[in-house]
Amino acid sequence: MRFKISHEAKLIDGKAIADKIKNELKEKISDYVAQGNRPPQLTAILVGNDPASQTYVKNKMLAAKAVGIKSNTIELPDTTSQDELLERISKLNNDTSVDGILVQLPVPEHIDERTICNAVAPSKDVDGFNEINVGRLALDMKSIVPATPLGVYELIRRTEIPTFGKNVVVIGRSKNVGMPTAMLLHTDGRHESKGMDATVTICHRNTPPEQLKKHCQNADIIITAVGKPGLVRRDMVKTGACIIDIGITRVPGKEPGKTKLVGDVDFDEVRKVAGHITPVPGGVGPMTVAMLMSNTFMVAQSLAKTKITNGFGSD
Ligand code: GUN
Repeated sequence: MRFKISHEAKLIDGKAIADKIKNELKEKISDYVAQGNRPPQLTAILVGNDPASQTYVKNKMLAAKAVGIKSNTIELPDTTSQDELLERISKLNNDTSVDGILVQLPVPEHIDERTICNAVAPSKDVDGFNEINVGRLALDMKSIVPATPLGVYELIRRTEIPTFGKNVVVIGRSKNVGMPTAMLLHTDGRHESKGMDATVTICHRNTPPEQLKKHCQNADIIITAVGKPGLVRRDMVKTGACIIDIGITRVPGKEPGKTKLVGDVDFDEVRKVAGHITPVPGGVGPMTVAMLMSNTFMVAQSLAKTKITNGFGSD
């Protein structure tokens, strides 16, 4: 009698890993405050009233509260000029009671996103979007790493997925997600930024579909960050590969009028061949928020050290 061998990928539970990271942080922050430091402070600037951005910022502030980070959201109308926004950022840069600063993206069209990201002081740039932090990451130097790529790094590390000498495909080349993710994966583990030593192929909108399929079939890890449901199919995935899905798209649900979130991966089919897979929602999303909190604490500690040095510095 022949039995059908059924296989199912191990689920990478991003929510559980993010909760663990937040609990670890809560303890570290509590110790830090008990040593006489003031609690870390995170300020978010939200320009306009995009509902998705409002929800993201609200979730970040809730997470901050849960781990012991003080937070504040500055809400500005979508008519805010670029100069007004730059002025706000400059005040926060000079405010010693503020550690982390983030400007929720996207900003309205009349504001230049790059100018805004570069205006945030590199030492307070918890998003890691300032060109100094991007440049330092590209040079394998210690930097503030954007939260989503850092979340992917932590998911892989904590799940103990081997990366050294492995083949990784990153689908998507955005400057805030795809590019820094590829950077973390391909760089040297012996350098300051502790890369993952993989062989990385970056695919994007101009990669022909048959080439995308070939690259993916050769990959031990596929990381997709595009926002195209069904992009990664079962026939593109090597048996046992690890699949990390950063894509988020809202699609109509089963019930009329309802919607649901899906990733870039055909989850139900791909899980039959993959070794590990992240769900959407509940995979990379919660990790982004947890790593933003981790960046905020790192920044607070580093600024506190600088202050002590400045106050009692050498003669
Ligand atoms: N919009 C979407 N993702 C992000 C993020 O990680 N940081 C900021 N500031 N805005 C975003």
